[in-house]
Amino acid sequence: MAEQQIFIAKTMYGLEPILAEELRQLGAKNVQEIKRAVLFEGDTRILYKANYSARSALRVLVPVHSFEATNEKEFYAGVRTVDWSQYLNPTDTIAVDSFTQGDVFRHAQFAALLTKDAVVDQFRDKYSRRPNVNVVSPHLRINVHVQGTKIDLALDASGDSLHRRGYRTATVEAPLNEVLAAGMILLSGWNADGDFVDPMCGSGTIPIEAAWMATRTPPQYKRVAGFGFFKWPNFDETLWNEVKQAADDQIRPCPVKIYGSDMDSRARNATAVNIMGAGMENNIRLQSVAFDKLLRPSNSGVLITNPPYDERMRVEDMTTFYKAIGDRFKKQWMGWDAWLISSNRAALKQVGLRTSKRLALFNGPLECSFHKFEMYEGTKNTDPGV
Ligand SMILES: C[S@@+](CC[C@H](N)C(=O)[O-])C[C@H]1O[C@@H](n2cnc3c(N)ncnc32)[C@H](O)[C@@H]1O
Repeated sequence: MAEQQIFIAKTMYGLEPILAEELRQLGAKNVQEIKRAVLFEGDTRILYKANYSARSALRVLVPVHSFEATNEKEFYAGVRTVDWSQYLNPTDTIAVDSFTQGDVFRHAQFAALLTKDAVVDQFRDKYSRRPNVNVVSPHLRINVHVQGTKIDLALDASGDSLHRRGYRTATVEAPLNEVLAAGMILLSGWNADGDFVDPMCGSGTIPIEAAWMATRTPPQYKRVAGFGFFKWPNFDETLWNEVKQAADDQIRPCPVKIYGSDMDSRARNATAVNIMGAGMENNIRLQSVAFDKLLRPSNSGVLITNPPYDERMRVEDMTTFYKAIGDRFKKQWMGWDAWLISSNRAALKQVGLRTSKRLALFNGPLECSFHKFEMYEGTKNTDPGV
């Protein structure tokens, strides 16, 4: 049996169970949710699969060493206990990403600098040459995670973040992170088993992610940047090609209808460009209609949208706007499940429909609620406790 290793896939707050399920489906073992990440076990095939096919992962790390440090000296010495020549040549380049929490090492940049110094000094002492830093496209991206006195060092197998799918070249205001959009669709339980609409689609992230799921297009199918592991000395190109081909072979015609609309013609144009970038022009029907004029395309389906959440988004009165969304849901979208993500909780209350599910998510630094409303014929209940 191929060698089993522990990996860490990072994600966003609230998407941990979704990512854990995705990884299980890909064949990962001993899957365990932690804060904003999922631990799992597998071989190199699983590592490649997680990078290529997990829609709700931001990056996948390979842990190499953990140690305790209470001061700078111990930190530096701890990093140097790893034999970095296993992963890097003296002529290669490195970058260090860092995250710190706690009082001992407060500054992430300082932790990154100490790590970088320890790595390059090890090479200088051994080979009289040292790797250079290249933050954009290094041979090796090292991840250092500091929590109090516990230091975890990992290799970043993804390189560029996995939210960079490669299709979104045009944006308008406040685009959603692709990983969040995919996570929201997975959280909704939509499984390409009915029509899908995003009536305020901005640059089209939600309908494009939905179309890729429906067509089983791998989330990295259009990746431009390559993966971090491509540059590793142990890169197994034959295995990689096998993993990629097997995932690409799953691509199928879209079994349902997917719609995107936005009243802003700039947004519509951006979405059109991105849909082309994603190769989904035959699978997403695009309109430019205000939500109060948009008609439901069929008797049932799933609507997911990310409406404007503050006045900067050219909606003057948020209270009235969200109330109008709720009224429209009641009158036009009977038979549909509608999900709204918003950081504006006061406005969400104005929807005035019973919330059948509410989940906490983050859109960047914004704490958001992701609310589900189920519309039946005659849905009128209000839920003042939102
Ligand atoms: C937060 S943005 C959506 C961003 C999008 N999820 C993305 O990833 O790019 C909200 C969008 O709602 C659109 N919008 C605002 N009011 C609308 C209305 N009444 N009908 C349709 N679209 C509307 C705006 O033009 C804007 O593009």
